[in-house]
Amino acid sequence: MHPMLNTAVRAARRGATVIQRASNNIEFITPEKKGHNDFVTEVDRAAEQAIIETILEAYPTHAIQAEESGSRGNSEYVWVIDPLDGTTNFLHGFPQYAVSIALMHRDIVTQAVVYDPCRNDLFTATRGVGAFLNDRRIRVSKTRELADSLIGTGFPYTEFQNLDAYTAIFRDMTQKAAGVRRPGAAALDLAYVACGRFDGFFEFGLKPHDIAAGSLLVTEAGGLMTDFSGEEKFLESGNVLCGTPRVFGQMLQVIRQHL
Ligand code: IPD
Ligand code: CA
Ligand code: CA
Repeated sequence: MHPMLNTAVRAARRGATVIQRASNNIEFITPEKKGHNDFVTEVDRAAEQAIIETILEAYPTHAIQAEESGSRGNSEYVWVIDPLDGTTNFLHGFPQYAVSIALMHRDIVTQAVVYDPCRNDLFTATRGVGAFLNDRRIRVSKTRELADSLIGTGFPYTEFQNLDAYTAIFRDMTQKAAGVRRPGAAALDLAYVACGRFDGFFEFGLKPHDIAAGSLLVTEAGGLMTDFSGEEKFLESGNVLCGTPRVFGQMLQVIRQHL
């Protein structure tokens, strides 16, 4: 394993230990509101702290871009961290959340970890080497038709400027696909495309910390991932579409009709 990926895995496991310890006592957690339907807890912050400490112990000169504490440092290596992706699920005891850590080198994601402590699913990827689930190589599914596809998505719930377009796409997608699911943790949704549990995924308005790690999992597993114009600028817009090569194209056609 690449030494930087090894550090990312150690950091993700330390963050997850903080989260799982707290999951036994969720009734004592007091969520704070960052915005409409957007919550943060002391668990998100403590997990993030543990992750950053682990990374900076190994690489003190690297920069950090973390969801809760923001950016620090100046380096061509930037660690992009979502300490707890799926906070709403976590707060409800709904076991679908993860730690997501990506390393960017000169603006390109080179290492990725998405760790689901509820299932002990460790998804990792190194650029040019492939994507793995618990040390087994993973590939996107072989599904070719949208009609046979299980599609993941995320509903708009904090900002609603895209709600009409989203609803139209959702309506069309539910009629054209075999099924649509909204599990509630975008980093895991992308990991699920990478390992073939989903055949495709789309969501508006995600943040770099939600998608940086998952994007490398998808592409290293042989999937395609773009914004809704079919371009690679999804980290900027946060509008994300990905899937198996064939299903991706059919999803893009559906989405384009409503934008
Ligand atoms: C959220 C989850 C959710 C997605 C939201 C994200 P958070 O992350 O990934 O699935 O729909 O857009 O913000 O806030 O739980 O880290
Ligand atoms: Ca997130
Ligand atoms: Ca988060």
